[in-house]
Amino acid sequence: MQIFSDNIIPLRDQIIQWKEDGNTIGFAPTMGNLHDGHLSLVRNLKKNGATKIIVSIFVNPRQFGPSEDFNQYPRTLKNDLELLEKEGVDLVFCPEMNLIYPSHISSEIIIDNPILMNDLCGLKRPGHFNGVLLVVNKLFNILQPDIAIFGQKDYQQFILIKNMVENLFMGVNLILSPIVRESNGLALSSRNSYLSPKNKKLASEIYASLLKIKDRLNKKNDDISQSIQLEVDRLNSIGFEVEYLELRTLINLEVCNEYRPMKNKYILLVASKLGNTRLIDNLIL
Ligand code: PAJ
Repeated sequence: MQIFSDNIIPLRDQIIQWKEDGNTIGFAPTMGNLHDGHLSLVRNLKKNGATKIIVSIFVNPRQFGPSEDFNQYPRTLKNDLELLEKEGVDLVFCPEMNLIYPSHISSEIIIDNPILMNDLCGLKRPGHFNGVLLVVNKLFNILQPDIAIFGQKDYQQFILIKNMVENLFMGVNLILSPIVRESNGLALSSRNSYLSPKNKKLASEIYASLLKIKDRLNKKNDDISQSIQLEVDRLNSIGFEVEYLELRTLINLEVCNEYRPMKNKYILLVASKLGNTRLIDNLIL
């Protein structure tokens, strides 16, 4: 497994060589502290035809707000590299800060998508998605992957990246990868390590709520806002502070005022605080 961190030229030469040899380059961007969710991206890249796998590890400061957990974010590079090696990854890109954000360039590029960026997670995290799109754009430009994979867990992120790729004719095939969960239903996340053992158990109630709403909508054809409100109240009463819990269209995250049972047309999305930890989850209906 090759590791690159401070020089783009040999990295690019390697990728060009792989492409000349007829390989399909698959790429999974991450912020490290890898868990099974991240590793499933590697496996799914292979299933989708990638013959060389690149994983990036970079805790991107631009996507953290001033009062967010950039400094606290778990950094476990040594362990991450061992996991990726076992998974058969070909190349890891863990760039130094100055490579991604060179100090000699003072001007700032902003990639915007004003409506979707200021909705759902963007409402409580202004600037977060600008930071995500900026770094993903830089990573795509550096690595020129044929396929890039993103987790469904961050579905709004995926839609924003998809819009960017289409809008800017970026020529990368995007894949959405299913959410990997603990056996109790909690979606795996690096931020779960912030949870106390008691809250880690409680956190699985988020997924339970999504399943209950799905059930109610499908079976009883209940009113959308009533079904959702019941679960918001339940979660808040057991210790959560729900930020949003909404039914949206799967294709572009538009607000839904009606629900007609139909596979893969809708998505329930939730964000909630539990103690100091912000958790997100979603369920495709
Ligand atoms: P990070 O949170 O490290 O996640 C990296 C990728 O792993 C994302 O595509 C995310 O959706 C996916 N992922 C995380 N938890 C998952 C789970 N339980 N099941 C399946 N996939 C999961 O998302 C980011 O980093 C950053 O915003 C990034 C795209 C790297 C840009 O900095």
